[in-house]
Amino acid sequence: MSVLQVELKKVVDDSYEIEIGFGLEEKLLADLKDGLFEGRKRLALITDSNVKGLYGERLQSMLSEAGFQAELFVFPAGEQQKTRETKARLEDELLEKGFRRDCGVIAVGGGVVTDLAGFLAGTFARGVPFVNYATTLLSAADASVGGKTAVDTPLATNLIGLFYQPKKVYIDVNAWKTLPKRQISSGLAETIKHACLASPGFFEYLEEHMEQLLACDPEACAYIAEENCRIKYQVVMQDERESGLREVLNLGHTVGRAIETVSGYQLLHGEAVSIGLLAEAALSRRLGFLTEAEEKRILALLERAGLPGKIPAGIDREALVKKLYTDKKVRDGRLRFVVQKGIGAVVEFAPGVFSTPVEEQAAREIIFSLS
Ligand SMILES: NC(=O)c1ccc[n+]([C@@H]2O[C@H](COP(=O)([O-])OP(=O)(O)OC[C@H]3O[C@@H](n4cnc5c(N)ncnc54)[C@H](O)[C@@H]3O)[C@@H](O)[C@H]2O)c1
Repeated sequence: MSVLQVELKKVVDDSYEIEIGFGLEEKLLADLKDGLFEGRKRLALITDSNVKGLYGERLQSMLSEAGFQAELFVFPAGEQQKTRETKARLEDELLEKGFRRDCGVIAVGGGVVTDLAGFLAGTFARGVPFVNYATTLLSAADASVGGKTAVDTPLATNLIGLFYQPKKVYIDVNAWKTLPKRQISSGLAETIKHACLASPGFFEYLEEHMEQLLACDPEACAYIAEENCRIKYQVVMQDERESGLREVLNLGHTVGRAIETVSGYQLLHGEAVSIGLLAEAALSRRLGFLTEAEEKRILALLERAGLPGKIPAGIDREALVKKLYTDKKVRDGRLRFVVQKGIGAVVEFAPGVFSTPVEEQAAREIIFSLS
């Protein structure tokens, strides 16, 4: 018998640009002509039923007129569609239309589209290049950057997916103008999360400019788009695969993701994160890392952003406690949480360890206190 060694050590450079601007369709076209997808002509534009008419069709005709073979693939809008089944349906459609390894994927939409299309691109024909053209504040603030792609399952959100980096991210701030108010608020939750975990100055900016942001003032929107990306990519550059530091981006998500699922997606992602941020602020205060005044400032800012501060009636609290165990940070059967250290920082419990075990009873008490 023999033992053969397959040498596969490699140096990978997955660096990419994030471009933030107002109306970036022409820029995307110019980048594709300049070889962003290494000359690939077959382009699958993946979008949802709302974004199709707003931006998808226009992009498709622009790319087709420029000589690309661009086709639209559309699925019904909503978190309930971010599933393995939708991914499989889209994959079959691409295959039937003759798409193979020589194609590229353009995700046009919010976080549901970028998560799903990025996952599809990462597995289609064992991986084809993709870009994110982010059209929501939430996807601009968080989902489109960082290379986490995933779908939800009946048990929990985002458990099945890949780390797969886009070739470029386009953040079109113009697109926020067509967003319903509730979606603007949802995106502000991830923005407030970034301020809570990384920047007291950004938190103050949000306190001072909340009205302008809710009115989609271009200058304020462009500022938060940049600040969100800066905070997120600085974390991702240090820990792409979440082996330590990247856990800080989970602030508010341990409880948030559980509420999102238990509510049957009646709450938007950002709304669930808002409640999660408050739950985790209460925990931070209990552990002595946050003052009552700081906790009140966080609540006040979330409420001014139009976000919920309490768990809605009708959500089964015990089911919520149980759902916490589907969180990816759970280790040896114990719940773990990221903890805020004042406004603008998180606690590092040991070198490179940014979450701490919390007893179920403590988590239960906090959940019941947010009613
Ligand atoms: N990958 C990550 O790192 C990461 C981070 C945070 C959140 N997420 C994921 O992001 C998702 C939430 O993102 P989302 O809030 O953007 O969801 P979404 O994609 O469902 O968009 C929200 C709604 O806005 C509509 N829409 C999109 N752009 C529009 C526009 N310009 N004008 C009008 N309507 C528009 C969509 O059709 C949808 O109905 C969740 O699935 C969450 O898990 C991922």
